[in-house]
This record gives sequence, structure tokens and C-alpha cells, in this order.
Amino acid sequence: MRAADISDQLSTVLVTEEEIQRKLAELAARVDADYAGKDLLLVGVLKGAVMVMADFARSLQSDITMDWMAVSSYGAGTKSSGVVQIRKDLDTDLHGKHVLIVEDIIDSGLTLSWLLENFASRGAESIEVLALLRKPEAAKVKIDCKYVGFDIPNEFVVGYGLDYAERYRNLRDVAVLAPHVYA
Ligand code: IMP
Ligand code: MG
Repeated sequence: MRAADISDQLSTVLVTEEEIQRKLAELAARVDADYAGKDLLLVGVLKGAVMVMADFARSLQSDITMDWMAVSSYGAGTKSSGVVQIRKDLDTDLHGKHVLIVEDIIDSGLTLSWLLENFASRGAESIEVLALLRKPEAAKVKIDCKYVGFDIPNEFVVGYGLDYAERYRNLRDVAVLAPHVYA
């Protein structure tokens, strides 16, 4: 669905599907160049990164491998708890691998800082981060994110994989959820 289909539940559209696809193609060209001649493992963080992973991975011209990790830090609310729990671990041994973590959004940064530390201890050769969205004003810890799609204001957004209580993940655009939906 598009933002127009549920406009009564949204307050502002921040990034359209077309802008997302253009940005992912740009990022993919950079990643193709940066990892030329290297084996790259993309690690998607479930469930929010599913859409980014699907479109970004297919925008690449190189052959990569993919794995998934599920962590939870939010529960059903709209604020980061800082408590990270592994719900599904990787199937891949990271030893000697070039890892690119694919994320939907960097909010407080707490989830990623935890993941980065966790991955570093598993012996990866290199670890970088790609995030479609970032909320600079919400940062509680600094994350070195090499590939960022869009910096957005510090508001709760949904769409393109991002949910509110598991809803709106299938919205093609990224939009600010209208306060009346969760108030
Ligand atoms: P962080 O640990 O605060 O950086 O955020 C961790 C996770 O919270 C992200 O990967 C998202 O899945 C989720 N999240 C953060 N901000 C939002 C938002 O605005 N809408 C929906 N989910 C969000
Ligand atoms: Mg989430």
C-alpha cells in the first residue's frame, strides 16, 4: 500500500518509495565498488530490515551472501528500551568475513552498538553498517554508519519494514504515524 491509501493514519510522508529506490541504487553502487574482489556477507536485522535488504541486495551487481539476526529492543511501544535480546542468532560463522549489517533505522543507536560489539567478538574481518534511516537527534550512542539513506527528524515513523505494533510494515513509503493512532 501507498501512503495515500491510509492518509488518515499518517501525519507526514517523509520519504517516498521512489526516493527510497533511488537512494538504495546509489548505496548499492558504492558498496559494489567498496567490496570489489571481496566476499560480502549482508546481515539483516529482523524484522524491520526485510524490505531494505530485499531491495538493496537486488540493486547490487555483485554476488553476496545473506544471513539474518532477530533481536528485540522495543516491545510494542514507541521508545527504545536499550535492552537487547537475541531471538534468532546467525547461521553463519563470522570468522574472516566482511560483514555489512543492514538496518532499517538508527534511532538511539543502542541496538547497533550492542550488535557491533557482539559481532566484533566473533572474529569478523570487517564490519560496516548500512541504515536506510537515521534520527540524529535521538542518538544516545555514536554509531559509525558508513552507508546512510536519509537523516530524518526525531519522530516515530512507519513503513518500508518499520512497524507500530507489527502494523504498517507493508507501507511502501516512510511516514510519520499520526499521534491519534497510538495515543
Ligand atoms: P535503536 O536501538 O533505538 O537505534 O532502534 C532499534 C530498532 O527500533 C530499530 O531497528 C527499529 O526496528 C526500531 N525503531 C526505531 N525507531 C523507530 C521508528 O520510528 N519506527 C519504528 N521502529 C523504530
Ligand atoms: Mg521494530
